[in-house]
Amino acid sequence: MIKVDKLTVGFYGKIVLKDISFELPDKQNLVILGKSGSGKTVLIKSLLGINLPESGTIILDGVDIHKADDELVHAAKAHFAMVFQNAALLDSFTIYQNVALPLYERGQMSEAEIEEKVDFCLDKVGLKHTKNMVPSELSGGMRKRIGIARALVYDPAYIIFDEPISGLDPITAKEIVYYIAQIASERKVSVITITHDIRDLEQIADLVLFIHEGESRFFGKIGDIWQNQDPLVSSFLA
Ligand SMILES: Nc1ncnc2c1ncn2[C@@H]1O[C@H](COP(=O)(O)OP(=O)(O)O)[C@@H](O)[C@H]1O
Ligand SMILES: [Mg+2]
Repeated sequence: MIKVDKLTVGFYGKIVLKDISFELPDKQNLVILGKSGSGKTVLIKSLLGINLPESGTIILDGVDIHKADDELVHAAKAHFAMVFQNAALLDSFTIYQNVALPLYERGQMSEAEIEEKVDFCLDKVGLKHTKNMVPSELSGGMRKRIGIARALVYDPAYIIFDEPISGLDPITAKEIVYYIAQIASERKVSVITITHDIRDLEQIADLVLFIHEGESRFFGKIGDIWQNQDPLVSSFLA
């Protein structure tokens, strides 16, 4: 469960998020909506503890990430996996090695366990057959899917996608949305997706947080956003 209360974040005196509050129950999927520059990425970076707030609280699974002991905060943050816009894969490593890397770094699993986990995660993005290939043999869309598999090996409670389909051609975008939707519908992990276009990701959302110029203009169930009376919300959805 993520609980954000009156979060205010600024840089050099300029406020970019103001009084943001929302709650994300376990296994629920959240879409963060807003136009470019509205503060969506800053919000995500705040959840990860990268951007520090001027005021307000962030509670992850009962841990106040700005007040609790380092060890607890570290453990809480470990529940997040982030899928970056450009899946930075290591060119000289195989797909298997790329996805397995975080597990080797943790050093808690046997080789057999790692292989099983990697196979499982590659299967989630339909790419088990690529495990002995190198990144250059894969299309851009496939490399993105490998980025998703690599995030899944952490067994995260939350997986975050920041504008997962922006800049992609329509067919690749559809493919990526398909795999994100699959993961979201399994409800083993909370999917948090940032977008500026709700139509692309409506099927993934249980809850929507709409941010405009750093302020929350809607937070609630996806089904309720269409009836919202705020002209700003309706004009954004139109
Ligand atoms: N590290 C930073 N230092 C100063 N300003 C920043 C920083 N990161 C983001 N901003 C500003 O915060 C605002 C929101 O940015 P961002 O969250 O990236 O928007 P978006 O909704 O497009 O993801 C922008 O005006 C941006 O310039
Ligand atoms: Mg952004």
